[in-house]
Amino acid sequence: RMTLPYPHKVVTRARELRTNMPVNFNFPDAASPCTLIKMGRAVPGGVGPDKDIVAYSTLCTHMGCPVSYDTASRVFRCPCHYSTFDAELSGQMICGQATEDLPRIVLQYDAKTDTVTAVAVEGLIYGRQANVL
Ligand code: FES
Repeated sequence: RMTLPYPHKVVTRARELRTNMPVNFNFPDAASPCTLIKMGRAVPGGVGPDKDIVAYSTLCTHMGCPVSYDTASRVFRCPCHYSTFDAELSGQMICGQATEDLPRIVLQYDAKTDTVTAVAVEGLIYGRQANVL
């Protein structure tokens, strides 16, 4: 099977982010919603000056409902069957019907331009046979 390379997409500048304020974007294409968050402390896979910026696909790995970020508990919650995923722990599933973690968007930070760029996805986006169609 041929796998196409991921596009690179500039999502934001690090200094424009506020801690725990989610930023929505699409990656690797318009049909794939994602959310980026500056957690406020260094977390696994975090990038940026404080190693605290992470992003995930927001299609639930159970049946594809859109999950949303809960700022109080810092988890993603699925409204359909109540799966929850840990934003600070690489999208790890905490509980619910899902059996897979949320796909993690691989980010790169460029200190010179202060830009945060999405460059790949770890894990399979719900409903796809390949992340890049
Ligand atoms: Fe999210 Fe079922 S679709 S828990």
